[in-house]
Amino acid sequence: MLRIGVLVSGGGTNLQAILDAIDSGAITNAQVETVISNNPGAYALERARKHGIDALCVSPKTFETRDLFYQALMEKLEEYRLDLIVLAGYLVTIPPAMIRRYRNRIINIHPSLIPSFCGVGYYGLKVHEAALKRGVKVTGATVHIVDEGVDSGPILLQKAVEVLPGDTPEILQRRVMEQAEWKILPQAIDGIANHRIQMPEEEQT
Ligand code: GRF
Repeated sequence: MLRIGVLVSGGGTNLQAILDAIDSGAITNAQVETVISNNPGAYALERARKHGIDALCVSPKTFETRDLFYQALMEKLEEYRLDLIVLAGYLVTIPPAMIRRYRNRIINIHPSLIPSFCGVGYYGLKVHEAALKRGVKVTGATVHIVDEGVDSGPILLQKAVEVLPGDTPEILQRRVMEQAEWKILPQAIDGIANHRIQMPEEEQT
C-alpha cells in the first residue's frame, strides 16, 4: 500500500479528485495518510477531515525562520513514513533538503503543458492569463516529478485541453481542472501505486 501525503494551500479540488478516485477504486493500492497545509484556512483541510484523514497546518508564520518551518514540516512528514508526496496546489517552495530526502517521490500538478507557461511566477491564474495572452489554441495540465528547479522535473503525464473563443482566465482554469488536472493526478498516483509508471531510481540521503 502506497502511503501518500498531500500538501495543499487552498480549496483542495485536486485533493478531492484523489480521495474520490480512492473511494471509487480508480486508485488502488494507495492511501492518503495525511494532508498538510501552510494555510490554516485552507478548505482542503476540511475535505481531508471529512474523510477521516489527519489534516494539519504547518504554517511558516508560526516559526521564527524559514529553516525552522521547513524542519517542522519535514519532521511531520517523517512521522507518516510516506512513500509519495503529492503537491496539490501547494504554494510553498520545496527546500532542497526535502527534495533530497524524497528524491523522485514528490510529484506536482501544473496547469499547463510544460514547458509552456511554467517556471518562476507561473502559478494559479497567472498561467492561464499567459496562455490566453499568447493566443494558444491548446493548453492542458502536467504531472511531473519535483526536482530542485521550478516545474523542471521529469514529466509523468500530460493532458491537452482546448482553449475556446471568449475564454477568460477563470473559465479556462476551470476547464483545465475539470478536463485535465482532476483526471491525470489520480491517474499518475494509480500508475505509481501499481507500477505502471516507472519512477526513476530512488536515491535517499
Ligand atoms: C490548481 O490549478 C493546480 O494546478 C495549481 O493550483 C490549483 C489548486 O487547486 N497548482 P485546488 O486547491 O486543488 O482546488
